Amino acid sequence: MKIAIGSDHAGFGQKPPLIAWLSSLGHEIIDCGPSTDSRCDYPDFADKVARLVANKEADRGILLCGTGLGMAITADKVPGVRAATIVTPHFAHLFREHNNGNVICLSGRFTPYEINQEILKEFLETPFGGGRHTGRVDKIMREDDCAFCGVDAGC
Ligand code: RB5
Repeated sequence: MKIAIGSDHAGFGQKPPLIAWLSSLGHEIIDCGPSTDSRCDYPDFADKVARLVANKEADRGILLCGTGLGMAITADKVPGVRAATIVTPHFAHLFREHNNGNVICLSGRFTPYEINQEILKEFLETPFGGGRHTGRVDKIMREDDCAFCGVDAGC
């Protein structure tokens, strides 16, 4: 799988070992930065990863910050992305099965590395469940209705 990954300074520590581990599993990794743990702004990296996934230049995205929250808020603004902060393997499984999630946002400060590995296994190996979930995900992705009035009125 082609995977785009990015972090901020708070998530940086887990990024190099995760890249090495994912590469050893045969995945192709696009490292969207940063290259050091110097203080930086998480939206810059969330946006890069999200756009690669939205443009289908990557199959999935992984983002790491202190909590994973700012990354998810940012990534979800890019049309085509379904991002969420995930802190348990069970939620990662459901995020794939029910929501067809394509960008996972992890906590580098509050989730231990080994748990993030378990979370990523679920994220990468669990297929979308389809069936009753398909129409719901389609409703999430609908872009023609105005976000404010709910009508396709071009406003
Ligand atoms: C950085 O201090 C922190 O705010 C950031 O890593 C992230 O947790 C934001 O959601």
